[in-house]
Amino acid sequence: MPDFAFFNKQIMPLSEAKISIMTHALHYGTACFEGIRGNWNSEEGQMYLFRIKDHYLRLQKSCRILKINLPYSIDKLCQLTVELVERNGYQEDIYVRPVAYKSSQALGVRLHDLEDDFFIFVTPFGPYLDIGKGVRCCVSTWRRIDDNMIPPRAKVTGLYVNSALAKTEAWENGFDEAILLTQEGHVSEGSGENVFLVLQGSLVTPPSSDNILMGITRDTVIKLAKNELGIDTIERSVDRSELYIAEECFLTGTAAHVTPVTEIDRRKVGDGKAGEITKKLQQLYFDVIRGKSSKYLDWCTPAYRSRLVA
Ligand SMILES: Cc1ncc(COP(=O)(O)O)c(C=O)c1O
Repeated sequence: MPDFAFFNKQIMPLSEAKISIMTHALHYGTACFEGIRGNWNSEEGQMYLFRIKDHYLRLQKSCRILKINLPYSIDKLCQLTVELVERNGYQEDIYVRPVAYKSSQALGVRLHDLEDDFFIFVTPFGPYLDIGKGVRCCVSTWRRIDDNMIPPRAKVTGLYVNSALAKTEAWENGFDEAILLTQEGHVSEGSGENVFLVLQGSLVTPPSSDNILMGITRDTVIKLAKNELGIDTIERSVDRSELYIAEECFLTGTAAHVTPVTEIDRRKVGDGKAGEITKKLQQLYFDVIRGKSSKYLDWCTPAYRSRLVA
């Protein structure tokens, strides 16, 4: 168990950070969250928090949509997170989970006339999917929720029931991950990842209007593909059948990193192994997130004031 959390405006033992069973967010899914990775660099004895500012900017937007008042500036949120990560002192990859939520102990489905609160916890977190071998996906029978239902661009806890239904259905049917379609039948995203295809040598990924979360890993990969490999990414609606004819496919996310997809609906992607472009992007991405690429060090915030030795 991690030792410390940020709760009630202070860093305290995680074991003392408790909320009431009457908390509004627990009943109605009225909370916004982020997932930020801390990537351990053992040679440097340093923990690099990846694109922390961008995660908090996204949290700010989610909170605007859900009418949650974030009590701190972006800089303060980054500073609190660095402090908490340093207090926990992990020497392995971690996941940071900030949550802004409707904290009133009150019944009634609404967003107005409620108090808001904020907490952060940190937990060790290895790879979420098999980044080496790749994953087998299915197209879910569950459709991606629409912007006019619960806006998927906001990372709202209640929205994740949609993802959980799809993920468990996939898993119970023997797959590793689900890919959801929009109501119109376009490819949207995985249960917790954005989807990329390689089609005739170009990278293709669904646009924000197809009900995706605007992933920070998605943005990272688009920039790395352009800057380092000279490959442009086309953001456009993707048909289901394009999943079956793509040369390569991969998923991106803070948890999933860059995960090759080797099979979709029992059809091999390419030759059924991680593709060449996918492997190159994966390697670039891993160097960048561990602070090993000087060009992209701006994306990495060191959490430890002095080097930690395992
Ligand atoms: C539904 C969904 N899509 C995509 C992503 C990928 O976003 P990011 O790369 O910012 O982690 C996530 C993960 O947060 C997610 O939950």
